Amino acid sequence: MHRAFSHDAASVGIVGAGTIGSSWAALFLATGRRVTVVDPDPQSMTRLRPSIEAVAGDLAALGVGDPRSHWDKLTAAGGDWSALATVDLVQENGPEALAAKRGIYASIEAVVRPETLIASSTSGLMPSDLQEGARHPGRILIGHPFNPPHLLPLVEIVPGRQTAPEAVAAAEALYRAVGKVPVVLRREIAGHLATRLVAALWREAVYLVEQGVCDLGDIDRAIAAGPGPRWAVLGQGLSYHLGGGAGGLERFLEVFDAPIRSWWDDLGTPVFDTASKKTLVAGAEALEASVGGRDALVRMRNEALLAVLRAPGPLSPRTGLEERAPD
Ligand SMILES: NC(=O)c1ccc[n+]([C@@H]2O[C@H](COP(=O)([O-])OP(=O)(O)OC[C@H]3O[C@@H](n4cnc5c(N)ncnc54)[C@H](O)[C@@H]3O)[C@@H](O)[C@H]2O)c1
Repeated sequence: MHRAFSHDAASVGIVGAGTIGSSWAALFLATGRRVTVVDPDPQSMTRLRPSIEAVAGDLAALGVGDPRSHWDKLTAAGGDWSALATVDLVQENGPEALAAKRGIYASIEAVVRPETLIASSTSGLMPSDLQEGARHPGRILIGHPFNPPHLLPLVEIVPGRQTAPEAVAAAEALYRAVGKVPVVLRREIAGHLATRLVAALWREAVYLVEQGVCDLGDIDRAIAAGPGPRWAVLGQGLSYHLGGGAGGLERFLEVFDAPIRSWWDDLGTPVFDTASKKTLVAGAEALEASVGGRDALVRMRNEALLAVLRAPGPLSPRTGLEERAPD
């Protein structure tokens, strides 16, 4: 059965239509795929179309497509699980609790075909735990997006102990087909990959604020004006590689061996108590006020993010999308 996994997913099931599920729905619909959404909460169904409409302009501007051109391909199925019977991929975005997800997986597996791939958006659960008790655990894996999935290209594919290699290959291909940048982890680990990296940075940021070295405004301004734009284009590995000049990363690591070790030795562990959190929140609120309030902050964030995502950088994800659209 494994060889039959679709590498294109012309028909996608979205289970759970909250923040993440509705964003995935918008993305898949924008590329012209049939999208069937299952969520037992009637309010989620009511919010679905408006939430897709709200991001349609961004998707069109990115060149992904305009979901408003494909309303006929959207099915808001509510609690009717049988609507998933013919989908190639289920992207599961239900509540972040193992018991709830297990119930959801039983409902999905009761109706889909054995060759339907099932990917979870979970940020914190392990794929092997999701596979336990499944009828066909080989087709279950994690496809973890960065919020919002319709804009940020990253999707972390994490196989569990029982995931078939064919399922991983199919997930990689079908996410790529809708313009995502898949990164496949070789084994499951708490927080997957990107969230762990962010957690490492945030730990040190909180420590520096607690130690009175700087405030949150200084941290965010330093990131946004320094490493941030560089990370958006190169990541850290290539940044250091270029930092080493003609000698590349090899030379960089030679020259900076001792300093890097001394910085690592000095990194701190924050207290992260009530007082610390109060200081962090005050810092974020002051920053927000300094740029004209929340609406202005969101508008500027969205405009700048779109510009970055549209720029053809060396690791740019958004090239050749037209050729990847389904029939
Ligand atoms: N919010 C984020 O920043 C983020 C980022 C990446 C991944 N995730 C992951 O995405 C998943 C969803 O998170 P969210 O923030 O969209 O949550 P959410 O609360 O916004 O949405 C969850 C949805 O699941 C629905 N639901 C509840 N029970 C259900 C059931 N039995 N069957 C089907 N649907 C059901 C709810 O009605 C709701 O619409 C989680 O696993 C989370 O870890 C979240």
